[in-house]
Order: sequence, then C-alpha cells, then structure tokens
Amino acid sequence: MKAITTLFLASALLASAEPDAAAMADGKAHFMNCMACHGLDGTGMKVGPTMVMAPSLAGSKIATGDPEIFAQVVLKGIKKEGAEFLQMMLPLEATLDDKKLASVMTYVRGSFDNKADPVTEAQVKEWRAKYADRKEPLTRAEIAELVKKSEEANKKPE
Ligand code: HEC
Repeated sequence: MKAITTLFLASALLASAEPDAAAMADGKAHFMNCMACHGLDGTGMKVGPTMVMAPSLAGSKIATGDPEIFAQVVLKGIKKEGAEFLQMMLPLEATLDDKKLASVMTYVRGSFDNKADPVTEAQVKEWRAKYADRKEPLTRAEIAELVKKSEEANKKPE
C-alpha cells in the first residue's frame, strides 16, 4: 500500500513538472482566443511603434504564479481602468470550457520561456464553481492583493 502511494506521488510529481504534449498542443490551438491581443509569441500585440494591445504573458507574474489567480483573470476579465493597453481583458468563462481553459493555461505557463506547472481540467472545474457567483471583472487592485497574499503564503520559512 505504501509503495503504491509512493508510486502515485512520484508520478503526480512527474506530471506536474512536465506538461503532456497533448495538453500543450490543445492549448496552442486554443491560444487563438488570446492571440489577437497578446500576440502569437505572447508578448503583446504591437500597434505602431509605441502602442500595445495587451501586456506580455512572457514572465507575467499572474500567468506563471498561483494558477487560481490566473484562472480568475481569464474567467472574469479585468476591469479597464487605464489607457496603457488599447484592448481590454474580456471575461472568457463562456468561451472556454474547463478542458480548453486548462490546456490554454498549461500552454501559456509552459511557453514564451515560462516554466510554471501545468493546470488540470479538475482544477479549472473547481475554480469555475468557486467563483460562479462573481459577475464583475477583477480590478487591478484586487489582483495585486491576491498576488501578494499568495506570495506570502508560498514564502519558504527562513
Ligand atoms: C480582447 C483582447 C484580449 C484577449 C482576447 C485576451 N486578453 Fe488577456 N489581457 C488583455 C488586456 C488589455 C489585458 C490588460 C488589462 C488591464 O490591465 O486593463 C490583459 C491581461 C491579461 C493577463 C494579466 C497579465 C499581467 O501580467 O498583467 C493575463 C494573464 C491574460 N490577459 C491572459 C489571457 C489569456 C490566457 C487569454 C486567452 C485565453 C487572453 N488573455 C485573451 C486583452 C486580451
């Protein structure tokens, strides 16, 4: 029994380190839903020399940090408060089902030099249910607070 548990844990660890090829391929296809604003290479679609449609997902703290925050951003969108970006982050909960969203998140977290753990369909299902009653997009202040809290929670004890 103990050996089986250890095996299970070992394979779960492996799975979390390496996104599977099928999820990455699916995610790349569903990245179509992001590309118009975030660009083919994820760094944000440029418009002329100075304007940009949306921020870069390469190295984005939100995209590569706590996946629950990343999921909330994609499900609910971001309230447009400034003119930094030409576009706005739309709520995509109606566009992407659990499987599609998990694969696109996995793709973003494992592409553009990002090296964050993949996301499972079960996780997205749980987060979608958890935030089902939320109808408004997130504000940047709220997101910053969530990121701060999750960074504090993940800080290793000295
Ligand atoms: C219609 C344009 C548009 C589409 C489509 C879009 N985004 Fe966005 N996204 C934005 C804009 C604009 C922002 C910045 C919002 C703000 O700060 O006002 C943003 C912000 C983000 C952020 C926060 C990045 C950071 O570090 O600040 C993430 C993560 C993100 N988008 C992921 C996605 C993913 C994944 C998809 C596809 C499933 C997607 N977006 C589709 C326009 C878009």
